[in-house]
Amino acid sequence: MNENNLGDTTVNRIGFGAMQLAGPGVFGPPADPENAKAVLRHAVANGVDHIDTAQIYGPDVVNDLIREALHPYPEGLRLATKVGGARDDKGGWLPSADPASLKRQVEENLRSLRVERLDLVNLRRFERDHPEFTNPPLADQLGALAELREEGKIDMIGISNAHLDTVESAIELTGAVCVQNAYSILNRTDDDIIELCRRHAVAFVPFFPLGSAFGAGGPRHLAADEHVSAVAAKHGATATQIALAWLLGRYERMLLIPGTSSIAHLDENLAVGRIELDADDLERLEKVQAIPLGA
Ligand SMILES: NC(=O)c1ccc[n+]([C@@H]2O[C@H](COP(=O)([O-])OP(=O)(O)OC[C@H]3O[C@@H](n4cnc5c(N)ncnc54)[C@H](OP(=O)(O)O)[C@@H]3O)[C@@H](O)[C@H]2O)c1
Repeated sequence: MNENNLGDTTVNRIGFGAMQLAGPGVFGPPADPENAKAVLRHAVANGVDHIDTAQIYGPDVVNDLIREALHPYPEGLRLATKVGGARDDKGGWLPSADPASLKRQVEENLRSLRVERLDLVNLRRFERDHPEFTNPPLADQLGALAELREEGKIDMIGISNAHLDTVESAIELTGAVCVQNAYSILNRTDDDIIELCRRHAVAFVPFFPLGSAFGAGGPRHLAADEHVSAVAAKHGATATQIALAWLLGRYERMLLIPGTSSIAHLDENLAVGRIELDADDLERLEKVQAIPLGA
């Protein structure tokens, strides 16, 4: 059996999502860029070997911070990025998903991260959160990324914000190694996709693992939930730690990329691997009320 957890490689199961390092709304620079760089260095110094980013975070801001903080990159650090979107001049999200645009975005990520090859590129679809956007044919999009993989500019390909049938096709067409969709103890709509990933030994990398910083979910909601806080009290842990530990127990190839701009929160997130939830905890956590994403 293939024991690797991300394609033909293995990463620590607690990685880092860098989106929170940009300014408000993931647009423009953060108030304290030196703090953002310190968070990145602290993550890597404490075992993070999988960082999720995107050139459109900022735009350029987050990739620049990663490069300034970490280049030359330590051996074994995997940088994952995503293509398929763009920003308007007010920070609004736009699709930019035809094959030529996808190739251009890969080049922009190579440039801003200053690497010759991207470890993982997720094709970011808009079929879930913006069904009004037109998604080009999946085979054309993946074909463009597969060409870049042939050229050595990409190592692995993943799929993001995708429905079950899209994920199935991405695995079949291009050997996608991971799915990056929203999923958390507050949003379990992708249980069927996780089962599909299990059957194909594909990683599942949840975004909004704490239920999203943008909507009603998120750390405050977790702390207010009676079931999460009861389990947290039993383990001497925080509610966010229990939410992350629950994710780790869900699937052996569940790879976490919680985002934070705080070293204290980062340390809490990195400590989650030590929490072992037992059957009573899991039964209690089944009672946590899901909330619609974006509510
Ligand atoms: N593919 C996609 O379409 C997509 C979409 C969204 C995100 N992503 C990726 O997924 C990553 C994870 O998502 P996310 O960062 O938005 O969502 P998240 O992890 O669910 O929530 C992040 C929020 O939680 C807070 N937080 C983190 N750790 C905490 C802790 N220990 N205690 C209390 N609060 C804590 C952060 O605030 P503080 O800064 O105050 O800690 C931030 O407000 C992103 O960084 C990004 O790389 C991908």
